[in-house]
Amino acid sequence: MNHISAHKGILNLNRPYTEQELLDAPHSILRHPGMPRCVFKLLWDVVQDGREIFAYVVNRSKNGDYYWVFAHVTPTFGSDGKISGYHSNRRIPRRPRQDRTPIYQQLLAVENATPDRKAGLAKSTEVLHAPLKDVGQTYEQFVFSI
Ligand SMILES: Cc1cc2nc3c(=O)[nH]c(=O)nc-3n(C[C@H](O)[C@H](O)[C@H](O)COP(=O)(O)O)c2cc1C
Repeated sequence: MNHISAHKGILNLNRPYTEQELLDAPHSILRHPGMPRCVFKLLWDVVQDGREIFAYVVNRSKNGDYYWVFAHVTPTFGSDGKISGYHSNRRIPRRPRQDRTPIYQQLLAVENATPDRKAGLAKSTEVLHAPLKDVGQTYEQFVFSI
């Protein structure tokens, strides 16, 4: 399930990847080192719980370049009511990237400063939620407020 299936839009964003290269490729082919792991954890936690999430994601192009997307990630339900897959609808963000990079840089710094990966993820997850708690916002409200 961790694969790109609806790849048409992504193909346009990802040239010079060929269609064949992206077809059924894992998302990690797009994984940018500037993305904090806690944002992906939040994304997976929410969709595996059967809910939708909007998230800013920076992806890597084949040539090493990067691009931001505003992703709407949703679970897909089968006729048995169980989750049968996941879908991401990616839009080009309207806002300049300066609006969202500081928090991601802060989260990444916390993850990189902690040698134990699991502990680093736990700490950055706390940081991700802490300022949001202070202003009474969920991550989703935050992404719509910038
Ligand atoms: C529907 C869906 C779409 C995703 N799209 C991306 C994406 O465009 N780029 C990306 O790096 N990760 C994306 N992810 C998250 C990846 O599956 C993965 O968690 C992330 O790349 C982190 O990889 P890692 O756990 O190997 O570090 C998506 C997940 C889902 C459920």
